[in-house]
Amino acid sequence: MTDADRELLEAALEAQKQAHCPFSRYPVGAAVRTTDGELFTGCNVESASFSLTCCAERVAVFKAVSEGKPKLEACAIVTVEGKPAPPCGACRQVLFEFGQNMRIVLGNPSGEVRILELFDLLPEGFTAEQLLKRAEQTEGVD
Ligand code: THU
Repeated sequence: MTDADRELLEAALEAQKQAHCPFSRYPVGAAVRTTDGELFTGCNVESASFSLTCCAERVAVFKAVSEGKPKLEACAIVTVEGKPAPPCGACRQVLFEFGQNMRIVLGNPSGEVRILELFDLLPEGFTAEQLLKRAEQTEGVD
């Protein structure tokens, strides 16, 4: 684990303290690092209307993107005790949009760490390329 990984994990751990998870009682913290070294954090935010819940990873990504920083190179995720958990499928796809070669650093509160590549978690993610191809095929067609 590099110093940069450690810094990102610590930011995720700090963000986890803000988790709003009264329904699942499963707090998650995430932190993303942009290609120019800036960090953005997020926690899971649950809703009494369950399906409106947003995962910690997506909160962190959306914070970075909405601040004008869409190029991401790493994401740290901290969950609860036990084997550090990987991101859900929806978050994998959203992370992929902003950094296909992203480094994924997983941790738990007692310091266990796993380091993965997003490409291994989502080998054939959907990309804008598919949409652009379709746009070419349908150009001029009503
Ligand atoms: N959760 C995340 O924040 N990230 C994931 O990748 C998996 C799940 C949250 C959503 C919900 O608040 C709680 O964990 C249980 O699913």
